[in-house]
Amino acid sequence: MNDIAAGRRVVIVSGAAGALIMLSGILAPLLSHTMTSISVHHLLHAGMAAGAGMLALALAAGLKKRDRERVWWMIPAVLAPAVGLLLMWPSEYAYLMSHPWLHVCDHLGIALAGFLAVFSAQAYVRGLGWPMLILMVAMDAAAAGGFGVSPGLVSLAPPRPQARSSPSGMGKKVQPLSLRARGAHLYLTLGCSGCHSVNGAKSIGPTWRNLAGYPQTLADSKTRIANDKFLKNAILFPDQLHLKGFPRGVMPDTYRAMLAGARHPRELRLRAIIAYIHSLSNRGNLSRRPSPNVLEK
Ligand code: HEC
Repeated sequence: MNDIAAGRRVVIVSGAAGALIMLSGILAPLLSHTMTSISVHHLLHAGMAAGAGMLALALAAGLKKRDRERVWWMIPAVLAPAVGLLLMWPSEYAYLMSHPWLHVCDHLGIALAGFLAVFSAQAYVRGLGWPMLILMVAMDAAAAGGFGVSPGLVSLAPPRPQARSSPSGMGKKVQPLSLRARGAHLYLTLGCSGCHSVNGAKSIGPTWRNLAGYPQTLADSKTRIANDKFLKNAILFPDQLHLKGFPRGVMPDTYRAMLAGARHPRELRLRAIIAYIHSLSNRGNLSRRPSPNVLEK
């Protein structure tokens, strides 16, 4: 008898704790958008899913025998994780970041998906709720990398490479063009597109249109020309950059490992992105010695 009471107490306490964790996760976007990086943010999603799952397990414990183990519980158990994945689609990051209430709804959806998945798995087969809870948390944690293609942006017209840069002599230009194309690809696949536009449109971070070669105003009102060194540092060490009018600590500092370091000794990917940024600017590549032709003009 005592055992049952103690068990029930554990269920109630863990359910209440789960509800609290879930609620604070749902409302978090209203407090701050800038305090976390994308990775930390997805770890918060994982915490939220854990909270929702704990609540679901607690509530499922109260299910009557006749309500459980019905086949149709399987449907939400399968659908909910899929919906949860969709709600973390990277192309929506920029939009969600600038619309806190929508972000709250997104979190509500993620929490609901976590709750439903665990509840219905547990209702379908007793004990299955636990692996489902682990799966949901693992899914959110895996998204902590936060990278993916942004389908919404792929459909935009591709940025025009400088018309002037290759009037003739196509053969000689193959190398920089392919580097640029790789950069354009990385822009999408690494998720830069979630925060940087290439057509001058406003976004979370500065647009890449006419960025290279132009002065950048820092938070302390000093200016720096965006040359290769500046761009490289901005990409590898975003935590050390603070531009006027842009939120600090939002750009992930996780790109370092993907673009430079021991695994990328030649920094090809980094150079490709920088070449792409240059191709979006009408000031071209300042760090490359201008050819006599250009000087004459
Ligand atoms: C989550 C949003 C986000 C993502 C994703 C992101 N950035 Fe940024 N980026 C920013 C913000 C915000 C700033 C301004 C930072 C500051 O002032 O502290 C910035 C600044 C920059 C700058 C300096 C721009 C300037 O005007 O001087 C460069 C270059 C840059 N990012 C490159 C990249 C690259 C390359 C990627 C992808 C590999 C990327 N960013 C992904 C948000 C992001």
